[in-house]
Amino acid sequence: MSELIQLPSYKEQSPEVSARFEALHKRPVKLKVEGLSKTFHTSKGSVNVLKSIDLNVYRREFVSVIGPSGCGKSTLIRMLAGLETLSGGRFLLNDKEVSGPSADRGMVFQGYTLFPWLSVKKNVMFGLEVNGRSGTAVEQEALQWIELVGLARFADAYPSQLSGGMKQRVAIARALATQPEVLFMDEPFGALDPHTRSQMQAYLLQIWKNVDVTIMFVTHDLDEAIYLSDRILVLKANPGEIHEFIEVPVPRPRTPEQFLSPEFLSVKQHLEELIHPVSSNDDEPTDLPIVRMTSASDNVE
Ligand SMILES: Nc1ncnc2c1ncn2[C@@H]1O[C@H](COP(=O)(O)OP(=O)(O)O)[C@@H](O)[C@H]1O
Ligand SMILES: [Mg+2]
Repeated sequence: MSELIQLPSYKEQSPEVSARFEALHKRPVKLKVEGLSKTFHTSKGSVNVLKSIDLNVYRREFVSVIGPSGCGKSTLIRMLAGLETLSGGRFLLNDKEVSGPSADRGMVFQGYTLFPWLSVKKNVMFGLEVNGRSGTAVEQEALQWIELVGLARFADAYPSQLSGGMKQRVAIARALATQPEVLFMDEPFGALDPHTRSQMQAYLLQIWKNVDVTIMFVTHDLDEAIYLSDRILVLKANPGEIHEFIEVPVPRPRTPEQFLSPEFLSVKQHLEELIHPVSSNDDEPTDLPIVRMTSASDNVE
């Protein structure tokens, strides 16, 4: 495909895209990460998973995190969400150093984490009640978040009555209900079928547009990362370090038609080269050995 289409460099941006990034860099820094590192100590020894991670994420920015499996993507956002201790470095939210989990940061995981014995409404109310609130105001607020994710008709349904995509929308509503400043999402659509997944991506962009929230989104799907993000943080493995932090040159608002635009394809090609460099497949032969298992005479090629 790349032989047929002459792609621009992924760094090439239209004037409207560069103007958007210029504006984005003028927003307040929401999350500042300085020299973050993580070492796990296990019975088999110590593993240095992440090393010297430095980055800034701006207010209402949408950042995706990609990288080879096991490079520390989940560890990174779990640390930032306060679910994992740091081995070194620190991070600041609105210029203030933070540690441990709190309502200013929310999390959505890949697995369905709703309480099966609670209705949709009660699941969303749960997050608010944990923060010590109660009463009809909480119920009204929960209903607003449920409406935002398009599930008003299902407020009294139970998780078992919902599809996978609907469950994840409830999980998003529950995470947003406490009005976190940063929402961390760890492969939230990874278990969904392709059609539901692209629908969820479009929903997420709509939700993000209507809520004052900064999103850090882990995925291993390059199309998903490009379609959703302002910038993409590319990690490399052993130890996990920042490979590149790239600006997505695709204009907003995003539409599925852009998946085939030259900007989209050029950034995708660049990400593929970063994540799956040709040399990493050296131990795999290009062709399989010829072992003929059929005596049928029709050639299929
Ligand atoms: N609690 C833990 N104890 C020991 N090693 C861990 C723990 N959590 C993750 N790791 C290791 O850290 C590395 C990064 O894991 P993870 O952050 O889950 O990667 P990714 O999300 O990029 O696939 C892996 O090698 C994993 O085995
Ligand atoms: Mg992971």
